[in-house]
Formats: sequence, C-alpha cells, structure tokens
Amino acid sequence: MFKLIENNKNLQEYLLKFGVTEHPIQRELREYTLKNLGNAASMQISPDQACLLQFIIKSSNIQNCLEIGTFTGYSALSMALALPENGTIVTLDIDNKNTDIAKMYWNKLNVGKKIDFILGPALETMEELINLDRVFDLIFIDADKKNYKNYFLKSLELTEKDAIIIVDNTLWKGKVSDNNSNDEKTVEMKNFNNFIKDNRSIEKMILPIADGMTICRKI
Ligand SMILES: C[S@@+](CC[C@H](N)C(=O)[O-])C[C@H]1O[C@@H](n2cnc3c(N)ncnc32)[C@H](O)[C@@H]1O
Repeated sequence: MFKLIENNKNLQEYLLKFGVTEHPIQRELREYTLKNLGNAASMQISPDQACLLQFIIKSSNIQNCLEIGTFTGYSALSMALALPENGTIVTLDIDNKNTDIAKMYWNKLNVGKKIDFILGPALETMEELINLDRVFDLIFIDADKKNYKNYFLKSLELTEKDAIIIVDNTLWKGKVSDNNSNDEKTVEMKNFNNFIKDNRSIEKMILPIADGMTICRKI
C-alpha cells in the first residue's frame, strides 16, 4: 500500500485552519445554507474543494467557466472570486428555489456580474450552448449523478485542448470501491468512473478530497 493518512474530524479542522483560505462571505453563505436548508447543505462543495477550484482557475489562467449544479451558489461564488475581472461563469440548475440565496451572496461581493444563471435541465442547456458555439476553459460537473456520463460527453463538445473538466463526488462516500455497495447512486458513480477510466480524450486523476473529485485535462 502507498502512504495513506486516515482522515478524521481533528485532521479536517486542522486542514481548514492551516490549508484553506476562505473569504468571510464564502463562509457566511456556507453557514446561511446550513442554517436555512439543514442537511441539504451537504450538497455544497467543501471549503478545501473551493480552494482547489480557485487554485486551478488562477494557475491555469482560466477565463470562462461552466458549472452544472448551482444550488445556493457557493461553488460559483468561489470560482467567480478567483476569475479575472473579465472572467465569466455560466451556471446551470433545474431548480431556482435557491437562486435568490445565490444571487444575494454573489451580489454582496460584486461578482454577480460575472455569473450567468440559466434555469432548466442541464443537458438541454448544454445542447443550446453547443449550438451557440460556446467554448469554456473549465467545466465543473456537480449535479444529478445519473447524467454524469452525458454531462461529460457534452463537456467534451464545449471545450478545446487543455481545458479542465472537474467532476465532483466520484468516490461517493467511499462506496465505489465496495463490491457489496450496489445502491442506485453508487452504481451510477461506479459506471461513470468505469466509463472515464480509459477515455482517450482526457488525462485525469481522482483526488481523495471531500467526496472525491476527478480532475481531467482534455488532450
Ligand atoms: C450538489 S448540488 C450543487 C452544489 C453546488 N455546486 C455547490 O457547491 O454549492 C446539485 C444541484 O444540481 C441540480 N440538478 C439536479 N438535476 C439537474 C438537472 N437535470 N439539470 C440541472 N441541474 C440539476 C440540483 O437542483 C442541485 O441544485
């Protein structure tokens, strides 16, 4: 076995304290979501994932992002903060019941002007973006798991060489490695990981951060 540190709550707190920078408004949005939406808040990416997205955006000179799955806007806010002044994010969600929360926080930091929210089933919106010849430097997939393969295939049509595609939840509570875990969501994620494993359009790695994140570079 390779070196592997067992994660626990203490270590996670240490990581957040020493390894992550979070803007006070990002934290406020996380806390607001938890207070008002309870368990659903676990849908948000974690602060270390947000930090990683920001790091990639800044170090890869990303200008235009597409996000599949907006929720209360934490990941979009995090990405917008890292983008240059003229950078943009298109973020898609099938549901707009949390969009007011998202917009309230995006506008607190004046990054709202960088973010374009589009309501509707993401596959249909992605098809429309393809027809408009839109191209993105980074696509972040974080919506319904059953469509991950379709989102990924559409993402390949919406990007050029060297673009980054990031997919959340790919270790799915650690259940993807368990042969006895065959519930619907786990199987969807196992299928996606299997599909992407030998895909020749990208190079990739799965990072054991939060619920697992696959980072791909289009080749
Ligand atoms: C995990 S949450 C996104 C969390 C967000 N990225 C964050 O970190 O704050 C997933 C979102 O995907 C949306 N969603 C589910 N199915 C969808 C679909 N078919 N098209 C677009 N959005 C969808 C849900 O409404 C939900 O808001």
